[in-house]
Amino acid sequence: MSNLSKMTQLLSQHYCPLDVLAYELNTTPTAILMDVQKLKRYGIPIEYHEEKGFHLAEPMGLLDNRELKRLIKSKSVRLELLEAIDSTNDYLKSLYHSEKMTFCVAELQTGGKGRMGKSWHSAFGKDLTLSFLKNFKKGVSQLSGLSMVVSLAVCKAIEDNYNLPKPLTLKWPNDILCQNKKLGGVLIEIQADKDNSAEVIVGIGLNVNSTHDTAGLIDQPWTSLALLNQRNNDRNLLCAAIINTLVQAMERFEAEGFSSFVDEWKAKDALFNQDIELTSDHKCFEGKALGVNENGQLILQLPDQTYHCFSSGNTSLAKSQENLEIA
Ligand code: BTN
Repeated sequence: MSNLSKMTQLLSQHYCPLDVLAYELNTTPTAILMDVQKLKRYGIPIEYHEEKGFHLAEPMGLLDNRELKRLIKSKSVRLELLEAIDSTNDYLKSLYHSEKMTFCVAELQTGGKGRMGKSWHSAFGKDLTLSFLKNFKKGVSQLSGLSMVVSLAVCKAIEDNYNLPKPLTLKWPNDILCQNKKLGGVLIEIQADKDNSAEVIVGIGLNVNSTHDTAGLIDQPWTSLALLNQRNNDRNLLCAAIINTLVQAMERFEAEGFSSFVDEWKAKDALFNQDIELTSDHKCFEGKALGVNENGQLILQLPDQTYHCFSSGNTSLAKSQENLEIA
């Protein structure tokens, strides 16, 4: 466990004077003060009382390399845990290309990327931002539906381990929702494609213990696991559960493709039979969403009763449907 992790653990429980912190962590008061400054820079509210010392205004448990490795079942994955990085997707792009499925998890992203050129914001020590890099023995054309399988796996990991007031749903292509509000998202980037194999980087952003948008940067209705289950959730358990479920899902996807996930998608499809708006290739379409085909393409029935399949795009409920609950 890193010193920063031990410090946040102690300060989540009670006030701690500087000299006691330094003694407990076997370091100097100067080093402690530097970590306090670092936490402040990361936006963590730290209280200070002249006699009692420092205290975290909100409890926080940091991710722990050893604990994660203990909880991850597959011994053939690599894991990199970082304190802060611009984007875990970009970090994996710069790595030596490993045959092993490689995960990168960061406590903070300073330049997190969302789909469609948007930014992804998450709070230090509260949410989950992780990416994995995997080589597929398939060409890009056989990878359709991959990001949808990833969001299905994330839903499964959450629902298998937590009691939620309502089921999670998925908004094509891969937004994870609860009660119409975004809980998480997936960003897929193809790194290389040659000799009928592809190296893919998939990033997952999940709102876990954030309960307010402190920086005021989120531009859409959102929720978090903590807002849903009223708990401060153990992120090591959740992160490992997601990694374990993803490893299995990727093996199955590699063997069977998206077609074997179509029924699971149907059970979670937030848009099925709804009037929606779809933006694809800078064009806007309105129609009824009729699920997905075995390549993961969205089937849209246009007002002229013709059917069209889309491989990429952005979806939202049509204005007239906005107040309907899609959970
Ligand atoms: C979306 O827009 O819904 C996709 C969000 C994906 C965010 C994740 S966080 C980890 C990884 N690194 C990034 O920079 N983005 C993805």
